[in-house]
Amino acid sequence: MIASRSSPETGAAGGPARHLPVMLREVVSSLKPKDGGKYIDATFGAGGHTRALLEAANCRVLAFDRDPRTVADAFGAVAEFGGRLTVVEAPFSEMLEIAPRHGFDQADGVLFDFGVSSMQLDEAERGFSFRFDGPLDMRMSASGISAADVVNEYGERELFRIISVLGEEKKAKFVARAIIDARKEKLFERTGELAKVVREAIHSKPGDIDPATRTFQALRIYVNDELGEIGKGLLAAEQLLKAGGVLAAISFHSLEDRLVKTFIQARSQVPATSRHAPEVKAAPLSFRSVQRKALTAGEEELKINPRARSAKLRVAERTDAPARGDDPLAALLDPIPSLDREPR
Ligand SMILES: C[S@@+](CC[C@H](N)C(=O)[O-])C[C@H]1O[C@@H](n2cnc3c(N)ncnc32)[C@H](O)[C@@H]1O
Repeated sequence: MIASRSSPETGAAGGPARHLPVMLREVVSSLKPKDGGKYIDATFGAGGHTRALLEAANCRVLAFDRDPRTVADAFGAVAEFGGRLTVVEAPFSEMLEIAPRHGFDQADGVLFDFGVSSMQLDEAERGFSFRFDGPLDMRMSASGISAADVVNEYGERELFRIISVLGEEKKAKFVARAIIDARKEKLFERTGELAKVVREAIHSKPGDIDPATRTFQALRIYVNDELGEIGKGLLAAEQLLKAGGVLAAISFHSLEDRLVKTFIQARSQVPATSRHAPEVKAAPLSFRSVQRKALTAGEEELKINPRARSAKLRVAERTDAPARGDDPLAALLDPIPSLDREPR
């Protein structure tokens, strides 16, 4: 079944290369799909991870994706797995309300594979990439404010915050200034125009990554509230997993991984206390961390999929303790510009 909230457009015919699922073997061996099991794939994409789970056992998968085109492309897989796969067009921050409606309130596994897919990056008209010229958009869900709205309307301080915090760009001051100067002449419409202004603002050395990389990352994270989504998604997974159920999360950059790592640590380790501090009864631990260090892709995978180089997989197993009420990521997310706290 495909549950859609809007009428999705189909992807471009003969469009971009299919997305290769990252760390597929490690994901399947962490989630250990079993017959009769229920697994939530929070980030369906091209469905590579979902397919591997459905092929490994006679289980069911409830998949989410906020991108209407991606959900439209899932029709074939939904038909192929005849009733074992449901794909919902929604952000995974809404998983806690939606999953129980599909009978997934006691899940055996929840998988997150954050960020955008190769199809989204390679379709110029989605405006995610500085490598192809396209409209300056970057919205996964095709709704809400676009990257063009941000660079054309936000003030210099707000642009500086977004680019320095979410892009971890040391030269954010110069980039923000250059954007303000350029838009006095002409508002930004295309990715190519922004990439050119950023490249001129940052003098890079030969061999450096494209100077536009970090600014584009910042805008993409901002317009899709990607870090706020991760915070809500992890809390929802804690509520939806049954005892013994597995949380698996793949991150692609340090901002994402820091949230996953902090969440798992907070839920699986007794906080260290000073012996001078008053004794406080710690809440029962709701997860057991499966490995101390994040897993990374092996050499064989890197040969065929260089994109996997920055992937980090963290895995934790749900205990039988109740889900906790506190949000261990609130302090980390607070300084991060988000759409809830629009900086104007
Ligand atoms: C890296 S791809 C996932 C690839 C997938 N695991 C596969 O094997 O093909 C990430 C996907 O998650 C979707 N996505 C990203 N953030 C999301 C969110 N907050 N809610 C729902 N979907 C999201 C994107 O639209 C994209 O299709």
